[in-house]
Amino acid sequence: METTIGVGLLGLGTVGCGVVKILQSPKGRNPLVSKINLKRVAIKNLQKKRNLSLDSSIFTDDPLKVVEDPSVQVVVEVMGGLEPARSLILRAISLGKSVVTANKAVIARYGEEIAEAAKNNGVYVLIEAAVGGGIPIIEPLKQSLGGNQIRKVSGIINGTTNYILSRMAKEGVSYQNVLEEAQKLGYAEADPAADVEGLDAADKIAILSSLAFGGSVSRSDISTTGINKLQSRDIEYASRLGYSIKLLAIAENLEDSENSGNSSIPLALWVEPTLVPTHHPLAGVNDVNNAILIEGDPIGEVMFYGPGAGAGPTASAVVADILNIAGISTLTTAKNGVDPLLSSASWRDCHLVNTNRIIQKNYLRLITKDSPGVIGQIGSLFGENNVSIQSIVQFDATNSQAEIVVITHKVNKGSMKDSLNKIQQLSEVKSLEAHLGCL
Ligand code: HSE
Repeated sequence: METTIGVGLLGLGTVGCGVVKILQSPKGRNPLVSKINLKRVAIKNLQKKRNLSLDSSIFTDDPLKVVEDPSVQVVVEVMGGLEPARSLILRAISLGKSVVTANKAVIARYGEEIAEAAKNNGVYVLIEAAVGGGIPIIEPLKQSLGGNQIRKVSGIINGTTNYILSRMAKEGVSYQNVLEEAQKLGYAEADPAADVEGLDAADKIAILSSLAFGGSVSRSDISTTGINKLQSRDIEYASRLGYSIKLLAIAENLEDSENSGNSSIPLALWVEPTLVPTHHPLAGVNDVNNAILIEGDPIGEVMFYGPGAGAGPTASAVVADILNIAGISTLTTAKNGVDPLLSSASWRDCHLVNTNRIIQKNYLRLITKDSPGVIGQIGSLFGENNVSIQSIVQFDATNSQAEIVVITHKVNKGSMKDSLNKIQQLSEVKSLEAHLGCL
């Protein structure tokens, strides 16, 4: 039996440094931590000064040297980006090495290919750090909840946008102001697109969906709306109506409602700023915290909550995966018929339903002329299209224009779109200023 486990690290950014710090201070942690030997580290810039006591001989700017080093048994990929990360992961697998990765972009797109390669080579690919930072969610979905039929996964799975939304709500400030400050403080990236446009959350919900439902869907077809167009006015109105606005990522199994006779599982996946009633468990999740709510049978609802981003929490998940491999590698290999990414033997066939079939409540804000009968006309058009209104409020009427906020009952996105097209053609309606989801 091996007494130590040789690790090669690809990337020494925020997460990589967090991993090194844990490995260098094993006291009080699982005894296996002291058995993890950092053998090689790939970095971009060999000249850059780093505040870590590591022997300079372990550094290289050629990541292949890390992957191919015979003393490296587990490759930890925390470099991010699609390439060369994907190729390096596949190379490690082909050399019979297990991989730990935090790379949601790669797993969301190439998870099936990577899992197949890992299965063929009898190695593990563990991805706890890819979703929810320090929150244990991947292994619980694979193992602890295995006896459930999962119906829905909904979560706040991007820390940066949750931080921005929390501050907008608390301080009544604009999206742009909070973003600029978050960038200065290092909470948001210099290029915030992946976070604020919802792309990072879409990667993560694709991964959670594949674990919950046992099969993957096309990442590029996930309907994604970020927070970059959100106005503080809508956060204020939502609050007055008893809601918080959160960037939710949702994956839902529509098998029960469809009954199509097709063996492929119909799934709806989407990312969207959504009104969450203040009494709902996701409404109280603030700052960089993440939370994932799983609904299944027979468990009912279970929520996982904790720090969703940052060096320490993400490194905590990476090190847990290394320990899992150190623990299991002496007992078994991934060849025993179980998929190294899923808990089941193989991937099931899943497909995304057309976005128009997603059913939910809606929040709308319209600017209209302040003239008699406008609310009546809007109400009639909704009625003709089977959209039922939960509440309709006129918040402000100045300079001969009115601001009308509507919350609908549950309706499919197709009927919603049709009725909004007709409403926007009314001469009294000047613009649709906001259209958000609502729980
Ligand atoms: N940028 C991500 C977030 C962290 O803000 O949640 C890494 O997944």
